[in-house]
Amino acid sequence: QAKRVATIAILAGDGIGPEIMAEAEAALGEIAAVGGHRFDLVRRPIGGAAIDALGCPLPSETLTTCRQADAVLLGAVGGPRWDKVDSKIRPEQGLLGLRSGLGLFANLRPVTPHPALFGASPLKPEKLEGVDLVVVRELTGGLYFGRKLELPDQAEDVCTYTVAEIERVVRRAGDLARARRGKLTLVDKANVLATSRLWRRVAEDLVRREYADLDYEVVLVDAMAMHLLSRPTDFDVIVTENLFGDILTDEAAMLAGSMGLLPSASLGEGSRGLFEPIHGSAPDIAGQQLANPMAMLLSVAMMLRLSLGLDDEAGLLEQAVWDCVSEGQVTRDLGGSLSTGEAGAAVRSRLSQVA
Ligand code: NAI
Ligand code: MG
Repeated sequence: QAKRVATIAILAGDGIGPEIMAEAEAALGEIAAVGGHRFDLVRRPIGGAAIDALGCPLPSETLTTCRQADAVLLGAVGGPRWDKVDSKIRPEQGLLGLRSGLGLFANLRPVTPHPALFGASPLKPEKLEGVDLVVVRELTGGLYFGRKLELPDQAEDVCTYTVAEIERVVRRAGDLARARRGKLTLVDKANVLATSRLWRRVAEDLVRREYADLDYEVVLVDAMAMHLLSRPTDFDVIVTENLFGDILTDEAAMLAGSMGLLPSASLGEGSRGLFEPIHGSAPDIAGQQLANPMAMLLSVAMMLRLSLGLDDEAGLLEQAVWDCVSEGQVTRDLGGSLSTGEAGAAVRSRLSQVA
């Protein structure tokens, strides 16, 4: 396999961010050494850490670095310290600014519950066996970004989507489905909403033109809330608009049983993406080496696959993580006794063994 030279923006952020990012960096070092690749890591502040250092949650140098990088890794942002200081400057603005600044319109959240954790899920093991799905949530449109009206006794949120906005995210989902099991499910509410009828028309046209090889279906969002629990194995790639995706990704996360094991990717037009665990900055355990680094490491694997084209390395890293989970080499949140650093080291030692 060809050697890869890549520049990766490293945004550790707040709370447990720096602790889990240290394990991500070390894993990248191991992968580079094993595969003969070169990863140039450029560390920049974001969120509360950037507010402390520079008075702004997304310094322009951070955004510039991300724009010039092949991929962006993010730990987490936020914490009670900045909630009090000044409500006009907030850590979360760093993340929102990054998403819009990089044009990241598709948020991918894979859910693959691991047998070792079936007990942690509210669903029965027989329902979870074989679940392997990805929710692709539209990230920059819909109700969250529409015109808002707030009067004392009336309020309004406007939901808008254009053909172009729908097409680009459905295309992302279609490409992903093609690289996976070939099944694409559109979730909408076309019996009630005009925007959903547009989604349905645009998606159906696109699938007919460009993705006729996929097994395509449409499910109404209320039914989907049920199907995710009653028959989760039936789904491969699920694509939907912003609000529905926000709700369904949280529901899907419950299938996996643990926050500390869920990665995510946010993608735009090109190959560059932003990769981060779905959990937050966990201020309650920050600075104590208690954080589970696995979701961060699985986010690194998504980056290797989706932005750097290093499929083999991604697979090896995922395998190393799941092997550690199977054998109980995990942090306290998963019932183990390892520190953040020890869990990261356990993953790395497996990476070096396959070499
Ligand atoms: P959280 O995800 O940070 O923590 C929820 C619970 O899960 C806590 O008990 C925490 O200790 C635990 N937890 C989370 N990640 C863990 C890990 N890797 N290992 C072990 N335990 C872990 O959510 P919370 O408490 O609602 O938010 C804390 C801060 O994080 C807030 O400021 C919030 O705004 C921010 N946040 C940031 C996100 C991001 O950067 N993308 C996403 C969600 C929240
Ligand atoms: Mg949410």
